[in-house]
Amino acid sequence: MTRIGFIGVGHLADYTVRGLRHGTWTHPIFLSPRGEAVSASLAEHCDCTVMEDNQAVVDACDVVILAPRPAQALEALASITLRSDQVLLSVVAGLSIAGIRGVVGEELPVVRALPVTSAEVGKSPNAFFPENPVVEDILGHCGSAIPLVSEADFDAAGVMSCTYGWFISLYDAMIVESEKAGLDSVTARKIVLGMAEGAAAIAAAQSDDTVDVIARKIATEGSFTKRGLDHLEAKDAFEPWREAHGLVLDAFRKA
Ligand SMILES: NC(=O)c1ccc[n+]([C@@H]2O[C@H](COP(=O)([O-])OP(=O)(O)OC[C@H]3O[C@@H](n4cnc5c(N)ncnc54)[C@H](OP(=O)(O)O)[C@@H]3O)[C@@H](O)[C@H]2O)c1
Repeated sequence: MTRIGFIGVGHLADYTVRGLRHGTWTHPIFLSPRGEAVSASLAEHCDCTVMEDNQAVVDACDVVILAPRPAQALEALASITLRSDQVLLSVVAGLSIAGIRGVVGEELPVVRALPVTSAEVGKSPNAFFPENPVVEDILGHCGSAIPLVSEADFDAAGVMSCTYGWFISLYDAMIVESEKAGLDSVTARKIVLGMAEGAAAIAAAQSDDTVDVIARKIATEGSFTKRGLDHLEAKDAFEPWREAHGLVLDAFRKA
């Protein structure tokens, strides 16, 4: 049995716990009292136990998930005493393992991950570092668990947790255009999100080809798809995406 405890019960804890229960995680989950409304809701709907304070959470569990906002995380960490037989899983963006070890020392395993909101429906691609079988098991219950070999790789993968949000904004723009073209909003949403899901699924399935080759096979000469893609490329539409990627990666590396 692996008992999980969350220090910091806000948005991330909310969707991650819901995802774990949706993914049939049956082991006990303990919650810190901060974030009262979310804690109460998770206790009611997801079979969690709200503890008296942070230390009570730590004392009750095997894996401590550190989930306050970045500016609050070290203070929260300093308020607890961890055991050497525990695992600390930090989901705090931009907080390095060295930064965490500066507070908790070298005794226990420290692992980083950044589950995104699709954890709630069991679809978060959870990159994590370093490898740890217990963490892998937990993350596998709310999506896929993808071990990485270095913290530099973790930063690179972390940018994708932001790209995930940008994709949703792009879907929104296409839904709005579909509505302007006459589709009702329910149909527009179903079709745009279905296309996004289908595009990801076929690109994942055709793993012998690069994703660029898959795209070019769809945007064939004379096709309407190519007409639109040519326009996007003529406008250098992917360049701001590359720039946004670069600026977030820089921010992660400087944090
Ligand atoms: N949300 C996302 O999509 C996402 C994705 C990947 C990673 N993350 C990471 O997840 C972490 C949490 O993000 P979030 O969106 O869940 O933030 P959030 O909704 O603001 O939740 C943070 C929670 O931590 C609590 N807290 C603050 N200080 C605490 C302390 N000393 N002891 C115990 N609890 C404390 C806060 O309580 P009060 O309200 O009482 O201050 C709040 O309930 C961040 O570090 C973020 O980088 C988030």
